[in-house]
Amino acid sequence: MAEQPVIEAVGVSRRYATTAALREAHLIVREGEIVGIYGASGSGKSTLLRLLAAIEPPDTGEVLLGGAPAWVRRYGMRHRRPPRPGYVMPIFQNPFSSLDVRWPIWRSVTEPVAIIRRASGAERRALAGERLAAVGLSGLDLEATPSELSIGQCQRVAIARALAAAPAAVVADEPTSALDVTTVAGILRLFKQVAAGGTALVLVSHDENMLRVLCDRVRPMKAGVLEPGGC
Ligand SMILES: Nc1ncnc2c1ncn2[C@@H]1O[C@H](COP(=O)(O)OP(=O)(O)OP(=O)(O)O)[C@@H](O)[C@H]1O
Ligand SMILES: [Mg+2]
Repeated sequence: MAEQPVIEAVGVSRRYATTAALREAHLIVREGEIVGIYGASGSGKSTLLRLLAAIEPPDTGEVLLGGAPAWVRRYGMRHRRPPRPGYVMPIFQNPFSSLDVRWPIWRSVTEPVAIIRRASGAERRALAGERLAAVGLSGLDLEATPSELSIGQCQRVAIARALAAAPAAVVADEPTSALDVTTVAGILRLFKQVAAGGTALVLVSHDENMLRVLCDRVRPMKAGVLEPGGC
């Protein structure tokens, strides 16, 4: 049997003032699949990811999460309705945007876990240590705040956070842009493992070659249009 769709974008469009950032995009991402998106700066990649993560609603079209609409209308307002908290976890293009600047990193990394179950501070610190080790940050001071870290360290903390609570999907916007090649290789191995466990991944990168090696499918974006993939 085919794997279930985790995220579906059905003809989604998004406009900002005079800019058509995204035009009628269609995409289905299934359990365990890794889909890569590449394209020139300003082509709409981050916009597409914000819609897939239901951070903002499309102007037209629909995003389905786990087969159900991500947004419902009530009293003329749109309300976000993910199947469960943390169903889709975003990794933002700016590594600091994924983290609360006031919080120690153990708290940011384990917040997705704390939202779905009770966990003591000691348990959360132990879990944060494990999650950070998986992204190559085993020696990091758990009490540090984001401003005390390098950009590449923040990027890996954001990855650890996104993966902490077994999300159904991760949408990652250039998640390895600040990392050296050896560290990138470790993170890509981790993404493969996570996908093998059933999580769906959508990865945006300017590195088309890397995407072609890592991903099951690769889709180019041009001027707001998500084009059919070559594979
Ligand atoms: N919040 C916003 N307000 C106004 N315009 C926006 C907003 N977000 C995106 N845009 C516009 O939408 C278009 C697509 O932007 P987007 O950030 O999605 O591109 P991108 O492909 O992620 O680019 P990059 O590779 O530089 O990150 C751009 O023309 C941008 O100026
Ligand atoms: Mg972007």
